Amino acid sequence: MDYPIHRPRRLRKNELLRGMVRETAISPDALVYPVFIKEMDEREIPVDSMPGISQFSPDGALDEVEAALNAGVKAILVFGIPQKKDEAGSGAYDKNGIVQRAVRGVKSRFGDDILVITDVCMCEYTSHGHCGVIKDGYVDNDESVKLLARSALSHVLAGADMVAPSDMMDGRIHAVREILDLHGDYNIPIMAYSAKYASCLYGPFRDAAESAPQFGDRRSYQMDPPNAREAMREIELDIEEGADIIMVKPALFYLDIVRDAKERFDVPIAGYSVSGEYAMIQLAVQKGWLDYKRAVLESTTSIRRAGADIIITYFAKDLCRWAKEHTL
Ligand code: PBG
Ligand code: ZN
Repeated sequence: MDYPIHRPRRLRKNELLRGMVRETAISPDALVYPVFIKEMDEREIPVDSMPGISQFSPDGALDEVEAALNAGVKAILVFGIPQKKDEAGSGAYDKNGIVQRAVRGVKSRFGDDILVITDVCMCEYTSHGHCGVIKDGYVDNDESVKLLARSALSHVLAGADMVAPSDMMDGRIHAVREILDLHGDYNIPIMAYSAKYASCLYGPFRDAAESAPQFGDRRSYQMDPPNAREAMREIELDIEEGADIIMVKPALFYLDIVRDAKERFDVPIAGYSVSGEYAMIQLAVQKGWLDYKRAVLESTTSIRRAGADIIITYFAKDLCRWAKEHTL
């Protein structure tokens, strides 16, 4: 017999009951806040397409990290924008490059209060804007992998606590693991952007990171959006190559991939709620069409509910603040 015996509404009667049976919670411990650091004189320049997000100079970034810490953020993901770009993306592995200097600054000021993860890629550093080096009009995999490994090591030498390769070249996790181990940095974890799709949702990020490709697009290395099984293969390879954490990116349009990964693999899963997800919510809020807090909570919760253990989100400061005020 069902109704009138069964009444699911009983457990929804008030907040105490709803709280008792709530299945999903967002933990501030598992949120990562992306920070854009640029070689420039201004301390801070707001990014038009990402209201509330700015590029910071290395000094300005210290203030931003302090603000994030005060809000309760525990981890940042650092992106660098160099002053000069070249064909070989040499700023990416320069020991005095923008990320390397910024990481040294943040670590010497905040030490172990903040976990510093660095994005490892070439696109912010190459004049052509691709995530690797070009040979005959095509992104050369194996040459790019060597440079990515060098970049990762240079970040670690500067003090990074974790590296996150985001380029989607084949074999780069193996190469990064190998170079770090050879150097004795066998305790530095790798968070692999494993299932990274060629998505429209990176548009605003490319303004923030000044990394739009100057010709063509990224579809010869990032994944084709219709594919789900291929994501499992990418993740499996990255785990075999030594990834400690794997990532699905974007998050909201790919929640099925987050769920599939969670069911298949026993490593922590990160979901990257990307710039386009952020911009869509911010714009609808500015228009008065969505309630800010409810939209941020519901979208972030959905990523968690799908199975993400770690969430990379531009909303991290507010989410952590709400957790502190017990209004999450
Ligand atoms: C670059 C990189 C991208 C993002 C993180 N690292 C975008 C791209 O492939 O152009 C996207 C982040 C976002 O949109 O928030 N390898
Ligand atoms: Zn890239």
